Amino acid sequence: MKNLDRRNFIKKSTFSAAVISTASALAGQGSSELIRPTDAQYMGDFAAPKLEKVRAAFIGVGARGGDHLKFSAALEGTEIVAISDLYEDNVLKWKGVAEEIGTGQRHKKIKTYHGDENKWKLMLDEVKPDVVFIATNWNNHAPMAIEAMKKGAHAFVEVPIAVTLEEMWEIVNTSEKTRKHCMMMENVNYSRDELMFLNMCRKGVVGELLHAEAAYIHELRWQMKEEERGTGSWRTNHYAKRNGNLYPTHGLGPVAQYMNLGRTEDTFSSIVSFSTPALGRKDYAAKNYAKDHKWNKHEYKGGDLNTSILKTQLGRTIMVQWDETSPRPYTRLNLVQGTKGALAGFPTRVALEGGVEGLTEDHHRWVQGDQLEVLYQKYDHPLYTRLNKAAKGSGHGGMDGIMVYRIIECLRNGWPLDQNLYEGCFWSAVAPLSERSVASGGAPQNFPDFTRGSWKNTKPLGIIQ
Ligand SMILES: NC(=O)c1ccc[n+]([C@@H]2O[C@H](COP(=O)([O-])OP(=O)(O)OC[C@H]3O[C@@H](n4cnc5c(N)ncnc54)[C@H](O)[C@@H]3O)[C@@H](O)[C@H]2O)c1
Repeated sequence: MKNLDRRNFIKKSTFSAAVISTASALAGQGSSELIRPTDAQYMGDFAAPKLEKVRAAFIGVGARGGDHLKFSAALEGTEIVAISDLYEDNVLKWKGVAEEIGTGQRHKKIKTYHGDENKWKLMLDEVKPDVVFIATNWNNHAPMAIEAMKKGAHAFVEVPIAVTLEEMWEIVNTSEKTRKHCMMMENVNYSRDELMFLNMCRKGVVGELLHAEAAYIHELRWQMKEEERGTGSWRTNHYAKRNGNLYPTHGLGPVAQYMNLGRTEDTFSSIVSFSTPALGRKDYAAKNYAKDHKWNKHEYKGGDLNTSILKTQLGRTIMVQWDETSPRPYTRLNLVQGTKGALAGFPTRVALEGGVEGLTEDHHRWVQGDQLEVLYQKYDHPLYTRLNKAAKGSGHGGMDGIMVYRIIECLRNGWPLDQNLYEGCFWSAVAPLSERSVASGGAPQNFPDFTRGSWKNTKPLGIIQ
């Protein structure tokens, strides 16, 4: 190559490298993530081979994990094969519960692992479970899910699926390579109202969807009382050190499925995010703990209330709020505005153009309270109607039971799951992307396309009977 040509080539290639790297930064992903490796398989509609019996292991049976264990132990076609937790008392408690449910017929050989951060790895090697339920602190979700898939198990992970975008990409790559499910267990998608709203959206009751509002507003300062062990002992550190929308999936998961995001019709595009000052946790620590207590040593960077606005590729908007600190009643907002009306939660309300037959005359009034019975009769989701009884007594008003029932049902029948790998990543990505936006004064951040373009061919979630 002549000198001049060479100079031009370097100039050109430096320029195109810069263009590529800017473009991929805007797309929220590195160029290596744009192409699916040849040995990987897209998992959007993935159905795993049927499992006649689901051999289930559990990592993390603290406040949350035991619920999944209890409900799956009671379902036909399951065997609880192992439990791992840092603490022996947790493991023994839930082993006892499973054995009792098994009445000497099932769950007879549960292996237990505790006392060490890494015992769960030994569990995967020794027990080789079909599925692993992971309900540990957030930082452990990704490493545990990735290792579980590599060891041949389907991974079912509590919310959020992971903490960083890098971890999410590693989860995607591992699932696609191992052909193992990795589902984030968003239980709220199985709540009665959320299921009914999904059904109403699919039936076109509110017309074309324009906008949604989702939230996790739940005052949980009391968790700071769990100082050495339990939820508050690790969650408080996230709230103190990170500033963003750290727990977005309970509100966002359902509205994302109303809008078919990541499933043919539309997908996530960008996010802007702002946080309020961080006052509540600092105050709480000062009022309740000695000056030299660890809770009084934090700087508390995470604003008490975060508001993020997501834009979809079709131009729809979703507001996602998060606040676990300020005093007010619980809400997930759960609002969806369409061209013909609106559905809203907390309290449940419906307003339709032209009114709701026999109940309201126009869209200026909500159908609510006892009047809603008519709508439940007409629009309750068939899945809720079928499983409501079976799920009775399970957590969060039955939604947890319906979720675990569906997981086991899909695995035993070789069906695709109701929430795919990519949905767990898109919904969880709001946390790290909002942190970036907050840190840059609210600058828009583009969502990575975890599906690498394949969302266009992924079927919308049907109305499961
Ligand atoms: N979907 C929901 O409604 C819901 C409700 C509550 C919590 N959660 C989620 O569930 C998860 C767990 O939360 P929690 O409140 O139960 O917390 P927790 O601290 O009570 O329980 C976590 C458990 O994980 C165990 N653990 C941690 N590291 C481990 C390791 N290396 N090996 C084995 N066990 C380990 C701990 O000993 C602990 O018992 C979190 O992701 C949380 O966000 C979801």
